Amino acid sequence: MTDFLKKAQELFPYTQAMRRDFHVHPELGFKEIRTGGIVAKELEALGIEVTKGVGKTGVVGFLEGAKPGPTVLLRFDMDALPITEDTNAEYTSENAGVMHACGHDGHTAMGLTVAKILNEYKNELAGNVKFCFQPSEEGFNGEECGGAEMMMRDGVLDSPKVDMTLSMHLWNEMPLGWVNVASGPVMAGAEEFHIKLTGKGGHGAAPHTTIDPVTAAMQIINALQTVVSRNVSPLDTAVVSVTSVDIGTAFNVIPQEAKFGGTIRTFDLNVRKLVIERIEKITHGIAEAMGCKAELKIVRVTPAVANNASITEKVQATARHTLPNANLDTSGYLTMGAEDMAFMQEKVDGCYFFIGSNNKDKNLDYSHHHPKFDFDEQALVNGAALMASAAADLLK
Ligand code: NI
Repeated sequence: MTDFLKKAQELFPYTQAMRRDFHVHPELGFKEIRTGGIVAKELEALGIEVTKGVGKTGVVGFLEGAKPGPTVLLRFDMDALPITEDTNAEYTSENAGVMHACGHDGHTAMGLTVAKILNEYKNELAGNVKFCFQPSEEGFNGEECGGAEMMMRDGVLDSPKVDMTLSMHLWNEMPLGWVNVASGPVMAGAEEFHIKLTGKGGHGAAPHTTIDPVTAAMQIINALQTVVSRNVSPLDTAVVSVTSVDIGTAFNVIPQEAKFGGTIRTFDLNVRKLVIERIEKITHGIAEAMGCKAELKIVRVTPAVANNASITEKVQATARHTLPNANLDTSGYLTMGAEDMAFMQEKVDGCYFFIGSNNKDKNLDYSHHHPKFDFDEQALVNGAALMASAAADLLK
């Protein structure tokens, strides 16, 4: 057995106790006061330098290796969901209407375990580890910023500058023992777009006296269909859907305005860029030709989580060595689920991997965000061992 796996197994009672404590006391995004307090206390007890209040309730631990080298950020999310727990677990939530239904209790517990392992190993490290305990992963949407962005605003990627990131998710769609470490995109990026055309309204019987935003809107909506079919390579993936149209109400009135919008989904950052550029060109170009004024607002929900090839290869090598009995899957595993780690991985190269955590025999196979969600806690051993050894291997 490898050292890191052995260490994670020895620490399992600690990991499990922490996980269950967080599970009993779940906290919603940006309210992780108790959780963050425990995290800070546990890190400080190890002698790790702690900064609190990074991104509101986020906590950062900094471990300096014995030798100089790059800084790797390990991210663990801490927030729970507004769901009423319906499991019969002995560690069921005591906060009414709040539940760790995504496994972030496990992520936080694994983070503390990884900190213990790497702290013991610090004399071997050529570089530094930033333990990033992130609030409010579930909270982000087009309007509100989540914990990852909030921590970035507070400088989590700076001083010292972060060179690489590692992050993971327990994955209840797959069984205990399955581990996915794949390069390229793993989670889709999403945007909303909103277009408003302003023309000149008037009588439906006298179109020549108006600037008609209806016909301009139709031409734009039509032309938007060519973005995926004519601009994106057939080997790439993208979605551009116009999903709402709000134009005019009367049969004899040419309206002043036309509003419509939709969503964009992409995995690849370059494809995303291309799609946005084409939407901008089509919207403004056609609007101008038709004499309308166009306002285009693109609201980012999240970029895709895209894994860096060379870091991922290293993590794959680590996984083969650290978890020799795992079912290691290195093929792309795409999920449409959104994840705000994407914001950090957009700035810094990283690898986001999945740790299979369901166990059908124990009835632990409900999906994430289900009121009966629970996972096989042995997955925490795999996650902690792989995260600790991957960080150590990146700082050799
Ligand atoms: Ni989650």
